Amino acid sequence: MRMQDKIVIVTGGSQGIGKEYSLGLAREGATVIIADVDEKKGQEVAKLINEAKGKAIFIKTDVSKKSDAFDMVQKTANTFGRLDVLVNNAAILESEPVCEISETMWDKQMAVNTKGTLFCSQAAAAVMKKQNRGKIINISSIGALAAQPGLCAYHSTKAAVLTITRSLALELVKWNIQVNAVVPGTTDTGMAARAMLDESFKKQVVDPIPMGRLGKPEELLGAVLYFATDDSNYCTGQTLVVDGGVLAAC
Ligand SMILES: NC(=O)c1ccc[n+]([C@@H]2O[C@H](COP(=O)([O-])OP(=O)(O)OC[C@H]3O[C@@H](n4cnc5c(N)ncnc54)[C@H](O)[C@@H]3O)[C@@H](O)[C@H]2O)c1
Repeated sequence: MRMQDKIVIVTGGSQGIGKEYSLGLAREGATVIIADVDEKKGQEVAKLINEAKGKAIFIKTDVSKKSDAFDMVQKTANTFGRLDVLVNNAAILESEPVCEISETMWDKQMAVNTKGTLFCSQAAAAVMKKQNRGKIINISSIGALAAQPGLCAYHSTKAAVLTITRSLALELVKWNIQVNAVVPGTTDTGMAARAMLDESFKKQVVDPIPMGRLGKPEELLGAVLYFATDDSNYCTGQTLVVDGGVLAAC
């Protein structure tokens, strides 16, 4: 098992792709801390893992609140004695044309997607520096690299996630902490389903996918496992795109 005895936090691990990361990392032997605002679903994922003889706990966390992010990471370190991997996956998506984006809507997405990634990374880095070892994996989006209509606010948060990834990678290199990003294409989850309610958006997003279909949440797991294991020890500040070929065709 590739993650035997590793202590891993997955933010937004209660559903969607984050749930697949939690289940998959646990199958590989990791103890998984599911940090999410959705307690009911998060407890269910933890139960699923524990019933399958894996190890998981749920910690209710709003990553947009700095105190929540730091408390969650500290509780993890106090309970398990260390932190090996942080997966910054929690995010929200709201769609508006650029000219109609409200300040509230912009701030809300920035708070969860960008500040959440920043706060959890700061808290994790404090623990990992003492260990002189660690991995931080940030989940971005293809929208950080190529525009799609109606998603400027969300994609701006995800572009900032890539900037945080590269900056943090350089700043943490002397503590043997690798920081990388996974860039999913449109993947079949509740988040995608909400965006797809707009028929024209659906056509613009699905039709250009060279593989002709949305990604499946489990198809993102391999990229996270690569960045979470020693296989990626000489890789930092990088992004791995998993998008069915969309960006290759641009
Ligand atoms: N689904 C896609 O098409 C797609 C494409 C590109 C990138 N992504 C990225 O992949 C990740 C997972 O996406 P998904 O489709 O599984 O999303 P999802 O909406 O299904 O799940 C998001 C999870 O984050 C949690 N969350 C929301 N706000 C939170 C907060 N303040 N604090 C803690 N947890 C919070 C939710 O409760 C939920 O469990 C996100 O970072 C998303 O931006 C998704």
